[in-house]
Amino acid sequence: MSLRGRDIVTIRDLSREEIEGVLADAKKMIPYAEGSKVARPLEEKIVAMAFFEPSTRTRLSFEAAVHRLGGSCLTIADAGATSLRKGESLYDTIRMLSSYADAIVIRHPNEGAAALASRASDRPVINAGDGAGQHPTQTLLDLATMHEAFGTLTGLKVVLLGDLKYGRTVHSLAEALAGFGSEIVLTSPPALRLPDEFRDELRHRGAKIVEEPDVRRAIRDADVLYVTRIQKERFPEESEYRAVAGSYRVDAALLAASKPRLIVMHPLPRAGEIAPEVDGTPHAAYFRQAFLAVPVRMALLRQILVGPKPGGRAS
Ligand code: NCD
Repeated sequence: MSLRGRDIVTIRDLSREEIEGVLADAKKMIPYAEGSKVARPLEEKIVAMAFFEPSTRTRLSFEAAVHRLGGSCLTIADAGATSLRKGESLYDTIRMLSSYADAIVIRHPNEGAAALASRASDRPVINAGDGAGQHPTQTLLDLATMHEAFGTLTGLKVVLLGDLKYGRTVHSLAEALAGFGSEIVLTSPPALRLPDEFRDELRHRGAKIVEEPDVRRAIRDADVLYVTRIQKERFPEESEYRAVAGSYRVDAALLAASKPRLIVMHPLPRAGEIAPEVDGTPHAAYFRQAFLAVPVRMALLRQILVGPKPGGRAS
C-alpha cells in the first residue's frame, strides 16, 4: 500500500512490507543524501518541523532530507518562542500549522502528543518522538543500519542495553524487530526494565525476548548491541535518576568478549554510556547510523508526500 498522505505515529502504522519498501528506497537515496546526485521531488512542498523538546539529529536530519529533495521547511525549534507560551493548545497550534505546510513532523515531551496532532491536522503527521512513547522514524534508520551491516533483519540477535523503561527508541525498535523475527535480549538496571505490559504484548505477538541483566553474557553471541542513554528528563525524581546514573558503560574491554562482527549502535546523544575508545573500533556503527537518518527520512518523506512513481516502484 502507498504511504502517500499517511500519518506515522507508531511503528505499527507501517507493515513489514512497507518498512522494507522505505529501506530499499533509502538505499537508493544515499548518493542524494551525500549530495553527489541531485533530485527535487519535493519542490513546492513545505514540511513543518514542530519540535517542542530538544533535538539535534532528528530535526536537522529531517531538515537536511527536505532540503536535499528540493523542499522547504517551517521550523519551530523552541516551544518558548510560540503562542503555546500564551496558553494556546497544542491542538490549535497543529491545526493552524497544517494549513501552512504539506506535512508536519512533531516532537513533544508528552506521550500521545503525536496522536493528538494527527487528529488536529488534515496533513500527514510524522512522530519524531512523543515522551517515553514511540520514535518510529528512528526505528527505520536503526533497521537501515542493521540491514546495511548484515544484509538481513531476520534471525539477528539484538541486545537492547540501558533505559528500556523511558527510552522511546527501544520501544519502537523492539516492536519492529519482533515483526522481523529477530531475537531481543533485554539488558537494563532493574529500575529501568521494559514495562511489563509492553513485554507481555511483544511476547503475545510472538516476539523472541529474553532478559539478561549481565551485559557480558548478553553480548557473547549477539550481532547488535543497541545502547541507550538514561532518559534523565523523564524521571519524576532526580534522586531516582542518581540511583541508576553511570550503571553501565560499553568499552573496548567489554567488546573483546563479543563476536568480531558485532555492531554497537546508539541513537545518540551519548552521555558516557559508550567510551570514546570504541569509536575507532570496527564495532562502532553509531555515526553511520546518524548519517543514515538523512536517506531514510528522504525516502519516507518522498513516499508520504509524492508517493510511488506511476507503474509502482519508487526509484
Ligand atoms: C533519542 C530521542 O530523542 O529519543 N535521540 C534521537 O532522536 N536520536 C534518544 C535520546 O535522546 O536519548
